[in-house]
This record gives sequence, structure tokens and C-alpha cells, in this order.
Amino acid sequence: MTTEGAAQVALEALARFEARLLEVERSVAELAALVLHRPHIPASKSTRWGTPRDLFAALDAEFGPFDLDPAADDELHVVECYFTEAMNGLLLPWFGRVFCNPPYGDEGVWVYKALLELALGHCSRVVFLVPSKTSVSWWHELVEPAKARGECEVRFLEGRLTFRGAKSCAPFASTVLVFERKA
Ligand SMILES: C[S@@+](CC[C@H](N)C(=O)[O-])C[C@H]1O[C@@H](n2cnc3c(N)ncnc32)[C@H](O)[C@@H]1O
Repeated sequence: MTTEGAAQVALEALARFEARLLEVERSVAELAALVLHRPHIPASKSTRWGTPRDLFAALDAEFGPFDLDPAADDELHVVECYFTEAMNGLLLPWFGRVFCNPPYGDEGVWVYKALLELALGHCSRVVFLVPSKTSVSWWHELVEPAKARGECEVRFLEGRLTFRGAKSCAPFASTVLVFERKA
């Protein structure tokens, strides 16, 4: 390759990097706005649907081993390394392979955070357990486009889960979302 050709290739790579950086900067600003201005939903009993152990074991075997559970508490966590509400998993960097069963009612902001952490290269994979809310805006703004880019697998679970600590099955269906950033 000539010197001019190499310079051209370097310039194009720089332009792509700058575009990506702008995209990430915009996402950071949007996430900060979402986190700072969203109404705070305290972790009541109804938002603490503990992941069933057998489901977690199956996902850990297929997509793990997981390194981080960013939405957890001292009683309910599925990975040794976890973030609690007091630490605020929405503001800390994530790493490795992440499993997230977010507080219910607030899932969109967690999916947004996952996409940001993947874009920043902080983590390699994020697996979510969420209620099957296919009519909400975050599903259409975040999940469907990621699916179209080949960066999200959607698995609708059959039946209804009996969450950890619950006596009967949940009044809603659940979905596993597997996000991976393609290089
Ligand atoms: C649906 S539960 C999941 C618990 C556990 N990770 C599991 O999979 O069984 C959601 C958890 O997120 C915690 N939580 C709520 N807000 C949080 C925040 N900002 N940062 C970290 N954890 C949070 C709640 O206390 C609760 O333990």
C-alpha cells in the first residue's frame, strides 16, 4: 500500500472512531437524563421477583459463567459479585458477562444501561430476565432495533415463572433477552 493509501485508511478509521465516540457520548447524556429525572421507584416486595434457581442455572450454563448481577440485594442475588440499590447499578460500570433481572416497572432504563455498557466495551454480554412487555416503548425503541442488528436474541418463556420466594406463579409471562455487541 502507498503512503497516501495508508493515510486514507487511517483517516477513515479515525472518522469511524469519532462517529462512535459521538454516539457513546450522546448515550451517556441520555442515560444520565433518564437516571436523574426518572421518578424513583423504591424496591418494594413487588419489584423483587427473585430469579428461579433452575432458570438461572440453565442460563449460566448456556451464556455464562456470569460475572455480575447489577440489580440485586444482600438476600436476592444470583452472582457472587452484585450491586445493590444503595450502590446503584445504573451508575456503576458493568463488566464481563452480566445477568440482570431488573426491578420491575423500571426495565427500560436497565436495558438502556446495558446497551451503553456494551457500546463502551465494558461488558461482553448481558442476559436479561424481564416481563414480556411487548407493547411498551422501550421494547420497540431498544429491543427490536437490537434484534434487527443481530445484537439481541429474544426468547419468550413458555408458561409463567414461579419466582424465588413466591408461593405461586407470576401473573405475567417472562422473556429472556440476550444482548451482545457485534464488533
Ligand atoms: C427483580 S429483583 C432481582 C434480584 C436478583 N438479582 C435475582 O435475579 O434474583 C431486582 C433487584 O434490584 C434491586 N435494585 C433496585 N434498584 C437498584 C439499583 N438502582 N441498583 C442495584 N440494584 C437495585 C432490588 O433491591 C432487587 O433486589
